[in-house]
Amino acid sequence: MEILAIANQKGGVGKTTTAVNLAASLAARRKKVLLIDLDPQGNATSGTGLEKRELPLSIADVLLDGIALTDAIYQSPAGFDVVGANRDLSGIDITLMNKSDSHLLLSQAMGSLEGYDYVIIDCAPSLNLLTINAMVATQGVIIPMQCEYYALEGLADLSQTIDRLKELNPKLHIRGVLRTLFDSRNTLANDVSAELEAHFGDLMFATIIPRNVRLAEAPAHGVPVLSYEKGSKGAQAYRKLASEVIKQSQQSPLA
Ligand SMILES: Nc1ncnc2c1ncn2[C@@H]1O[C@H](COP(=O)(O)OP(=O)(O)OP(=O)(O)O)[C@@H](O)[C@H]1O
Ligand SMILES: [Mg+2]
Repeated sequence: MEILAIANQKGGVGKTTTAVNLAASLAARRKKVLLIDLDPQGNATSGTGLEKRELPLSIADVLLDGIALTDAIYQSPAGFDVVGANRDLSGIDITLMNKSDSHLLLSQAMGSLEGYDYVIIDCAPSLNLLTINAMVATQGVIIPMQCEYYALEGLADLSQTIDRLKELNPKLHIRGVLRTLFDSRNTLANDVSAELEAHFGDLMFATIIPRNVRLAEAPAHGVPVLSYEKGSKGAQAYRKLASEVIKQSQQSPLA
């Protein structure tokens, strides 16, 4: 079982779009996938067709009340399992602040999981306690990035945080930096992309996710783009990303 967190403290860079569509594309390759929504916004939950406000059990019940993670799993029509989130998850930092093992809650809850090839965790745009829980529970981090100037500044903070959290989780590593919302006609985007390649080298996914309106439309229908418009550029790109991820897993298991 491989665990991948999708994280970047910058908002709106395509984390949730990546989490949902990578999950769907891995499932389409017959991988058994669990998507865990760790963002009070609950976008990954509604994006997979679950009604986030009516979830009988969500990740908040797992982290706050000690409900078994396996009891909070729902099946998405898109072919993978989901543990949903909603605004019950907001304020968790304050609620849990005084607990000594507050950063271990997700990792402890995931201890009993079995039977999955991939667990994908969608993080909120912040480096809060929830994201730290994801970093402690995961092996790899996928960092979606929009190729614009400020992205580079945020990336330095995130890399530093990942380095610091290695003390708590020695397996933690950057699995790949993913260029998202990419517009190849934009000169700055191409410049930033080249700079990222120069800086991160092999850590860059070869797959680039283009800006594609189908990717933005699919969540309104509660489905991944693969179910919404299979032949779209967005669907093709996420299928390619899934192949790249599977290939990486085969080459260096758990790397
Ligand atoms: N490649 C793309 N092409 C077009 N639109 C996209 C693409 N990726 C994401 N979007 C749209 O951009 C917006 C932000 O994407 P998304 O919600 O995935 O980002 P996020 O990083 O999860 O945001 P947040 O930080 O709020 O959690 C959404 O409206 C989404 O539909
Ligand atoms: Mg999101």
